[in-house]
Amino acid sequence: MAPAISPTALTIAAIEDADIADVIALWQRCGLTRPWNDPAADIALARKGPNATVLVGRDRSGLVASVLVGHDGHRGWVYYVAVDPGCRHQGYGRVIMAAAEDWLRSRGLEKLQLMVRGDNVAVHAFYQSLGYLEQDRVVFAKWLDGREPTP
Ligand SMILES: CC(C)(COP(=O)(O)OP(=O)(O)OC[C@H]1O[C@@H](n2cnc3c(N)ncnc32)[C@H](O)[C@@H]1OP(=O)(O)O)[C@@H](O)C(=O)NCCC(=O)NCCS
Repeated sequence: MAPAISPTALTIAAIEDADIADVIALWQRCGLTRPWNDPAADIALARKGPNATVLVGRDRSGLVASVLVGHDGHRGWVYYVAVDPGCRHQGYGRVIMAAAEDWLRSRGLEKLQLMVRGDNVAVHAFYQSLGYLEQDRVVFAKWLDGREPTP
């Protein structure tokens, strides 16, 4: 039997060009892509300026975790928090979120916020175990190119 992989076996780095296809495949395996979001364009925009990036986590099997982290000049945000379905419940999610928190902290951000889709109840316990508290807010959104709202 293969030895258990400890959470510290996850190595974190900023995404590179050669990682893009693997990251998109990870997001697809994790059910995070939506028809109205182009994941390649999301990655490109996050890498365009200094206020965002995509962090990736690798273990011995390859690229198995990701987070898109950035800030808007006031709060930090994370998107595409993902751990490969075959690698869950061994602390990788905790490690990639800690890396996102460190990334924001080192840039002077004091608070990290994130949105969870209403049908993704399973993930609540994950964020709660990391110290996040559900907030009483309503999120409004509008596409700036004039297209109809999406859910
Ligand atoms: C959410 C996700 C990233 C968690 O990754 P993970 O590597 O399994 O998480 P960890 O092993 O680091 O778990 C950290 C803590 O969360 C808890 N947790 C994780 N998943 C959980 C679940 N489905 N139900 C209950 N608790 C959970 C663990 O018990 C653990 O707590 P502990 O360390 O105190 O025991 C992973 O399940 C995932 O990629 N999900 C699909 C994508 C997704 O929904 N992303 C979030 C979008 S908002």
